[in-house]
Amino acid sequence: MRRLVSETTLRPRQLILPMFVAEGADAPRPIASMPGVVQHTRDSLRKAAVDAVRAGVGGLMLFGIPEHHDAIGSGATDENGILNVALRDLKAELGDETVLMADTCLDEFTDHGHCGVLDANGGVDNDATLERYAEMALAQARAGAHLLGPSGMMDGQVGVIRRALDDAGFTDTGILAYSAKYSSAFFGPFREAVNSQLKGDRKTYQQDPGNAREAIREIELDVAEGADMVMVKPALAYLDIVRAAAEVSPVPVAAYNISGEYAMVEAAVANGWLNREATILEVLTSIRRAGADSILTYWAAEAARWLD
Ligand code: PBG
Repeated sequence: MRRLVSETTLRPRQLILPMFVAEGADAPRPIASMPGVVQHTRDSLRKAAVDAVRAGVGGLMLFGIPEHHDAIGSGATDENGILNVALRDLKAELGDETVLMADTCLDEFTDHGHCGVLDANGGVDNDATLERYAEMALAQARAGAHLLGPSGMMDGQVGVIRRALDDAGFTDTGILAYSAKYSSAFFGPFREAVNSQLKGDRKTYQQDPGNAREAIREIELDVAEGADMVMVKPALAYLDIVRAAAEVSPVPVAAYNISGEYAMVEAAVANGWLNREATILEVLTSIRRAGADSILTYWAAEAARWLD
């Protein structure tokens, strides 16, 4: 009877697997604070991506880790940069079998670790960053991405990327906007995952964890600028925001179950304090119950196998 009346579905197609690929890696490198997640080589990425798609996940979100960082994040726009090369690898391997997504943000590529380029005072220059995002978006679209994920929280980023794509003929390339992204301590393990050198914080461009109305305003702006999907991030400490987003958004809502949420569960499991499978499925079900249409989660492939 519980099965008959259950209100919330959790299906493999609703899960998106974020993946890391490191330039010049000759073996997958474990990420200590995210046990079970690795920085892939181009080869191991290809295999893991195919496995995840066979397991039924709805999409893949790719992050690149370059060998060299600089002030403007040159590797992000270089067609031979690791993220663009890996996108072409996966496009060749999987074609249109899955939704291929890419992080459209500079922080993995900059030596200062910020999501944009800096001005003379060391602050992030919003409008100069938009120009870099437009170039990065075009490089990713050319490399075969279906859906771009601008995650830098610059004002106007969705509109600028949409125009750049349309002007270059990429009218079918979509945008998954990281609309309501909070300046969160739960991003901690991600810094290790992408070897980021961030000095300072992201409080001048990411949201204050205490603000809810601001999230709705950010979502409305992104939809008006052309977002095809919007995202709330992190997920677990922000389920009220996921619910509010689901109620107002005219486009699908994704939630990102981020690195620190993953680490928290895995650490407790490693101590024998939580039942792993039951906890993970409860976390994912709760994010769906809050109203997310899809969930980005490092457990996507594994959970998809359990749910199959
Ligand atoms: C920015 C980006 C971040 C994450 C995804 N895209 C880091 C940040 O904004 O600080 C975090 C993902 C996670 O923590 O799992 N490129």
